[in-house]
Amino acid sequence: MQEFTADKQKCCNKNKIQKTFFIETWGCQMNEEDSEKLSGMLKKMGYEEAKNKYHADLIILNTCCVRENAELKVYGHLGALKNLKKRNPELIIALCGCMMQQKHMAENIMKKFPFVDMIFGTYNAYKFPQYLNEVCQNRSSVVEIQNSESGIVEGVPVDRESTIKAFVTIMYGCNNFCTYCIVPYVRGRERSRSPLNIENEIKNLVSKGCREVTLLGQNVNSYGKDLDPEVKFSELLERINNIEGLERIRFMTSHPKDLTDDVIDAVAKCDKVCEQIHLPVQSGSTNILKKMNRNYSREQYLSLIYKIKEKIPGAAITTDIMVGFPGESEKDFEDTLNLVREVGYDSAFTFIYSRRRGTPADKFEEQIPEDIKHERFNRLVKIVNESSARKNRAYEGRTEEILVEGLSKNDSTRLMGRTRTGKLVNFQGDVNSIGELIKVKISKAHSFSLLGKQIQ
Ligand code: 5AD
Ligand code: SF4
Repeated sequence: MQEFTADKQKCCNKNKIQKTFFIETWGCQMNEEDSEKLSGMLKKMGYEEAKNKYHADLIILNTCCVRENAELKVYGHLGALKNLKKRNPELIIALCGCMMQQKHMAENIMKKFPFVDMIFGTYNAYKFPQYLNEVCQNRSSVVEIQNSESGIVEGVPVDRESTIKAFVTIMYGCNNFCTYCIVPYVRGRERSRSPLNIENEIKNLVSKGCREVTLLGQNVNSYGKDLDPEVKFSELLERINNIEGLERIRFMTSHPKDLTDDVIDAVAKCDKVCEQIHLPVQSGSTNILKKMNRNYSREQYLSLIYKIKEKIPGAAITTDIMVGFPGESEKDFEDTLNLVREVGYDSAFTFIYSRRRGTPADKFEEQIPEDIKHERFNRLVKIVNESSARKNRAYEGRTEEILVEGLSKNDSTRLMGRTRTGKLVNFQGDVNSIGELIKVKISKAHSFSLLGKQIQ
């Protein structure tokens, strides 16, 4: 483990009163958290967040490469930034994240977009203040991609979006090598943070008003297998459950092959651990799951779901599902639709399979034509939405515990918060209850949110 040191953080900005930055983030919660760290480092260096990219002295694109779409968006943004840079040659443009961690990507970007000032990858993001100083002082570009993961770097300042709830990374990387997935190649092998560091971070957050944490990792169920002595994820949950002042604990993502009984029991037993499990299924066909290297069958997944439903009554179950994986027949796809109907998901992230260079599935024969993928995707989304609507309707008339997060996004006369099961609720209530746990009577269910009124 390394400790982040502040000695390289001195601000390179000597002439201007206040420099500003703007970060654009694509991808998963991990990337969001990395951006919060970049923002934390920048604020320590004396930078301030700009309202938008047009007012910024520094623009960072934190990229994702899980699907081709995410990469295309980055290219689109870079094209637009070229004009901004022409108008303001002092502007610094930085690129980082998973897309940059891919082989030859940095070289390609510098060839096509030579105005980019800085490129770094996922393993060396903690060195960002040093790179920024180099760019400012020498006015030359810095490109540094580290090819293997460093140990965990603790103590990087984090500028979190909310003071009420926070994402806390408990482990980095993934060892699973699902055949479609680029993540293990750009985020490296599994590395767990020590339970003490995690606890201390959460205690510190709680002392500043945080009431809810979401523990993050690509596969949280294999947390602690690399620690000496080993620490089970269920033990970590129990330890965090004892932190005074913390009200709610969530976690993601669970891999079905590693979600053991002790974790389900810990969720059932620990009062602060919320009744919500995100359990990516990817496909409802055992044949496809095998080709994906997921290491569970349809039947094993379903029996896990029944166990969760029995031991954690009322739990919300969410998932990730992919359509159009190589070799997926109409029958395989219908198996997925039937599984969605059988489980009755509260919600699901749905994806069209995207070929990723360097992954085994990219070389599989029987790639599915785009029109079939899209047609299946639309059918899947319809069934998922029906399932979400049904689940939400069951909340009508109920009284739910809500952690109040702030004003509603679309209607500032209302407040918003979430149920323990993670449902978004917009409601009439007292603004003084922001940051508090309150009771809300649910009056109406929409497809993606609930409506209600504070009763206590
Ligand atoms: N194509 C489409 N979806 C993908 N995912 C991961 N890799 C790909 C890919 N190549 C999805 C999986 C995963 C989620 C984070 O992204 O469903 O669970
Ligand atoms: Fe990718 Fe599979 Fe690891 Fe998830 S578990 S990050 S899908 S390789």
